[in-house]
Amino acid sequence: MKGNFVYYNPTKLYFGPDSLNGLKEELKKYGPNLMLNYGGGSIKRNGIYDEVMAVIKETGKTVVENPGVMSNPTLAKLREGVDIARKHQIDLILAVGGGSVCDYSKAVAACAHYEGDYWDAFYLKQQNPPQSQQILPVACVLTMAGTGSEMNAGTVITDADTKLKVGHVYDERLLPQFSILNPNFTLTVPVEQMKAGIFDIMSHILEQYFSDDDDNTSDYLSEGLMHSLIVAARKAVKDPKDYEARSNIMWTATWALNGLINKGKKEDWEVHMIGHSVGAWTHAPHGYTLAAVSLAYYRKIMKFGLKKFVRFAENVWGISPQGKSDEQIANEGLDALKAWMQEIGLPLTLKDIGTTDDMLEGIARGTFLLDAGYHQLTHDELMEVLHESM
Ligand code: NZQ
Ligand code: ZN
Repeated sequence: MKGNFVYYNPTKLYFGPDSLNGLKEELKKYGPNLMLNYGGGSIKRNGIYDEVMAVIKETGKTVVENPGVMSNPTLAKLREGVDIARKHQIDLILAVGGGSVCDYSKAVAACAHYEGDYWDAFYLKQQNPPQSQQILPVACVLTMAGTGSEMNAGTVITDADTKLKVGHVYDERLLPQFSILNPNFTLTVPVEQMKAGIFDIMSHILEQYFSDDDDNTSDYLSEGLMHSLIVAARKAVKDPKDYEARSNIMWTATWALNGLINKGKKEDWEVHMIGHSVGAWTHAPHGYTLAAVSLAYYRKIMKFGLKKFVRFAENVWGISPQGKSDEQIANEGLDALKAWMQEIGLPLTLKDIGTTDDMLEGIARGTFLLDAGYHQLTHDELMEVLHESM
């Protein structure tokens, strides 16, 4: 394990079919004013809203509801939430939904007590809230697996006017206090969203796996998570009601992005930078934006991190190295990734998710070019990746 690092993740997890039983005792730890954030209404249709409200009622809290948190939550919606949190002197924010609702709730938590321009400070300038500033506590009842937002400090917000989709940098005070992970709650997620979540998980692992060449425990953990995900995804696509598969996907999602598998490593995250920009232009599900650009990106950078791509082929996909060059083995690993993506029915191109040629320059403009993985893309290389993804 290279370098020095701190691992700190205090989010308490309740997992399993009875995990909502933990909510009442947890809520009692906070003051009377509860902000309840949720999305476009799925929790009302599938009964999760009623179940959560029944528990909240038993605690006697004053609930301020803030529905309508959209996928890829916007800055305008963030401003609404901040106003609500200020007006009602909120003590705890409870997110009931997928990554968008969890992310959004953390954004409100970060911004509610900030006097200045929080979009400029926290997103455009990537500053953390001042240490002296109060951050509201957040908790999640997760209804969709994918982002890992339930156990990380990420909060991605889109400015619909400028088409900039930006993730807030890490601030440990935004880690959820507790999260409730009931795999049964994810059974009503539309299959297309489930598949997007599955690829989001895969992408989170790959972003952290494809860097460095040393022998690092983190990479072995990543390989284990990928094995579980590959198997569970195949089963879940065949039978979306398969509890075992869905519960494995949910747990894998959490561990894929909670600060564990990046330890002692650099990380890449360029696929996410491109994907976020694609998302701001197309509004496609986050995981689909990643699926559409991953293969072209990895084929482009493969030669700069060949050793790891060979390892990926052999350890994750069981590609036999006999009689092959390193390039051949590495390419076969990416072929295997592509075949798995096809098998579970993911989009493989930008066209598949509604991108048109006239968007590509704008997508490139909104893409941050990071210098963290095996190779920093030039603008020209980024354009090649985008064209090759069409
Ligand atoms: O709006 P509702 O009614 O909640 O419906 C949602 C939404 O339409 C629906 N859904 C969720 N749970 C459901 C359900 N429908 C039926 N039954 C259920 N149980 O699914 C749709 C997608 O939900 P959303 O929360 O948008 O998806 P996801 O979890 O993929 O979150 C995406 C957001 O997270 C950000 C993405 O950029 C995007 O904005 N990310 C957050 C990260 C983090 N915190 O670290 C990292 C990720 O890389 C990602 O960037
Ligand atoms: Zn992601």
